[in-house]
Amino acid sequence: MAEKIAKPAAKAAPAPKNILLFFGSPEISDLLTFSLESRYQCSVTSYASIADAVLSFKTSHYDLVILDTSLPDGMLVFEQVLTAKIPYVIHHPDGKSPEVRGPKIKVYKENELLPAVTAAMTTIECALREGASEGRAPFVGMRMSLLTKANPQASDLYVRLSDLKYVKLFHQGSTFTADDEEKYSRRRKISHLYVRTDAIERVVDKVNGMLEDFLRRPRPKAETAPVVVDTVETIHELARHLGFTPEVQKLVKNNVDLVVAEMQNVPSLAGILKNMERNKDKYIAAHSQMRAEVSCAIAIAMEWGSDTSLKKITMASLLHDMCLTDNRLAAVKDTKELESRKTEFDLSKQEEYLSHTKRAALMIQGMKEVPADVDKIILQHHELPMGTGFPEAIGHTHIHPLAATLMIAHDLVDWIIDHPGDLDKDAFLAAYDDKYAQGAFKKIMKALRELKL
Ligand SMILES: [Fe+2]
Ligand SMILES: [Fe+2]
Repeated sequence: MAEKIAKPAAKAAPAPKNILLFFGSPEISDLLTFSLESRYQCSVTSYASIADAVLSFKTSHYDLVILDTSLPDGMLVFEQVLTAKIPYVIHHPDGKSPEVRGPKIKVYKENELLPAVTAAMTTIECALREGASEGRAPFVGMRMSLLTKANPQASDLYVRLSDLKYVKLFHQGSTFTADDEEKYSRRRKISHLYVRTDAIERVVDKVNGMLEDFLRRPRPKAETAPVVVDTVETIHELARHLGFTPEVQKLVKNNVDLVVAEMQNVPSLAGILKNMERNKDKYIAAHSQMRAEVSCAIAIAMEWGSDTSLKKITMASLLHDMCLTDNRLAAVKDTKELESRKTEFDLSKQEEYLSHTKRAALMIQGMKEVPADVDKIILQHHELPMGTGFPEAIGHTHIHPLAATLMIAHDLVDWIIDHPGDLDKDAFLAAYDDKYAQGAFKKIMKALRELKL
């Protein structure tokens, strides 16, 4: 049975918060209203007329006011906010600071508005809606290469110009071709298009249909591996923004089934390593997919390759770094390396790194029918045999054998990415012999040594 991580005790549901928006641009108002109401337990009232906004203070109580002071009358509304002593976020597209009093003033340029509003929602202790997670945005990015395989498009597709500006490029029902992808990636240097969060269910259904088709009619590995990589990226994005909704859980299951079905056909490590795509631009997604295959191959070599074990390590591999958002950060091997690269990663990135195993393990517990131990394997993926890893600094005797498999597979995948050409297995083993000299780790290294590649 999986060893569960303690979940915080449930609290009584807090009252929804009232928020006032005063913006000249209806697009920004719509976007903010949608973003806040879909993510938080709040009700947003939006005014573009000064008279209505000022009048509303007489009849309504607000917990937060978000207003644009660049509007001719913006400062009048602001005076009301100060008088009523309401927490506020001030937006000014030029970042100009109005002359004001009070402790909670914030002046933000356009690109800083969403993070400022998110921080203000935490300050006023506005609760998230059920199933919503931190960082929910009104749009979710999807890699263009995945969209080319999901025609006709199940939703409108947008290009992102800034945090607040998205422009519609393709309508629902249209075809997004490889030529379109080539055109946008070459001319505009973009890799993702965006789908409105309220339409995401349809898009995920479509991708699920595509994966199920792959499962029914197996395709060559060269065709399925990139689909798995792109879908893994989508799963991470959706899980972080929406949580594990039933559609996202289905996406995980289909992806795991696809990898496991493939591994049962090509079980040798030699077969896996041949033609493995080494994609540094998509490190998080690509190394998760490679790691799934390499760990399955090792588990099969260790005779731990039951269907259940393969599903467990595949799911853990695909999701282990889902709470990291930065490909460079995901490539950091341990706390020592993080320490030596402190100037590259600010404090919030360092915190993101140090907490990513725990956050991912907790999120996994929110999934239904997740195989036992997947949360534990994910939680332990940065532990080390000598007890010098994180988050718990447990030694090899407490590390799950499948977590050990994943750790060695991770180093092997990184080695393959860093050393182009044929794998020099002996060089890899020599480099990692000392690190993995105990318990299950030692057994896995021995099996690797004996394996013919
Ligand atoms: Fe990783
Ligand atoms: Fe990690």
